[in-house]
Amino acid sequence: MTTITTQTITFNVFRFNSETDYLPYYKKVEMEVTSEEVVLDILNRIKWEVDGSFSYRRSCRHGICGACAIKVNGKGVLACKERMNDLIELFGTELTLEPLSIKRAVKDMIIDKEDFWVKHEAIEPYLISHIEEHPEMECAVTPAQAEALLDSDYCIQCGLCHYSCPVIEINDDFIGPAAFAKAYRFNADVRDDGIDERLDIINAPSAGVWDCVKCFECAEVCPKEVNPIEKITKLHNQIFEHGRAINNVATRHAVGFAHSIKKHGLLDEAELVRYSEGTLPMLMKHGKVGFKMFKVGKVVMPWNMPKSDKLDEVKALIKSSSTVKF
Ligand code: SF4
Ligand code: SF4
Ligand code: FES
Repeated sequence: MTTITTQTITFNVFRFNSETDYLPYYKKVEMEVTSEEVVLDILNRIKWEVDGSFSYRRSCRHGICGACAIKVNGKGVLACKERMNDLIELFGTELTLEPLSIKRAVKDMIIDKEDFWVKHEAIEPYLISHIEEHPEMECAVTPAQAEALLDSDYCIQCGLCHYSCPVIEINDDFIGPAAFAKAYRFNADVRDDGIDERLDIINAPSAGVWDCVKCFECAEVCPKEVNPIEKITKLHNQIFEHGRAINNVATRHAVGFAHSIKKHGLLDEAELVRYSEGTLPMLMKHGKVGFKMFKVGKVVMPWNMPKSDKLDEVKALIKSSSTVKF
C-alpha cells in the first residue's frame, strides 16, 4: 500500500491581467501538498480556495489536449501530468508558477499563442498531393513507410518546446521546433508531393533550421517524445538530398564540419570557421579572439592539426551512416 505524505510548499504565483495591470507581479501562496497531487491540482486549488480570478487553461486532464502547459521554476511541464513530488524532489519546497512565455502573458497562466500557430501554418502542415480524381485503388501506406514518420505525428501542439527554445526568445522569425517536427512529418509521408516547397520554407535564413543552436531543450521538454531536434537533423539532410541547399555560412558550416571529421577524426575549429565564413571575414570578425586562442593552444595551424588514433574507425562510421553526398 502506498503511503500518502504531505508537505508545506510555498508557491510564487505569476499574476497579470493585460487589461488592467501595467506590470506582472508574484503572489505568495502556502499550501499543504500531498504526494498524490499533480500541478493541475494546485492550479485548481489556487482558483477554488485562494482567488477565483486566477486563470489558466486546461481541458482533457489526461495529457492529450496540450492546453495546460506552464513553467515551474523555469521548467516547461504539462500541469496535468507533472507530479508535485517529482518537482519538490528537483527544486525543493519553494516553487514558482509562470506561464510558458512571460512576454506573451494575457492573464496569469494564459498566453497568446498566435506566433506558434502562425509558424505552424507557415510550413504547410498538410498533404500536398496530386490526387487522381478517380483512383483505381487506395493509396496504401505500408507499416515500414509509416515508421519513417518517427513519432513526429504524436505532437499535441502544447507549445512546450516552442516556448522553451532559446532561439524563439531572441529571433521572432525562427519557425521553431514544433513546426519543424510537423514539416518533417509531412515531408516523410510517401503520399506527399510538397517536400521541395516545404524545404524551401524551412531553409530560409534566420527563420529556418540552420538557426537552431542544437541545445536539445525541445527534446528534453516534449511530453510526447516527438524529439524535434531529431527531425530538424533529418530536415538538414533532406535539404542536401533534394538539392535545395543554398551556399551560405550555415550550409558551409555543415559541409566543413563533415570534412574536418573525415580528415582528422577530430574537429579543426579554426579551419571550420575559415571554411564557413571565408578567410577575410573570419580575420576581420574573429582575428583578435583567434589570436588569443592560438596563444594558449586552443587552436592550431592547419599543418599541426593532430589526427585521431581512431581515424579509420571514424571514417568507416561516417561512410556507413551518411545519407548525403556534399
Ligand atoms: S535544439 Fe534547436 S529547436 Fe530545439 S530548443 Fe534548441 S535551439 Fe530550439
Ligand atoms: S513537439 Fe512535443 S513539446 Fe512540442 S508542441 Fe509537440 S508535443 Fe508539445
Ligand atoms: S489538460 Fe489536456 S494536456 Fe493537460
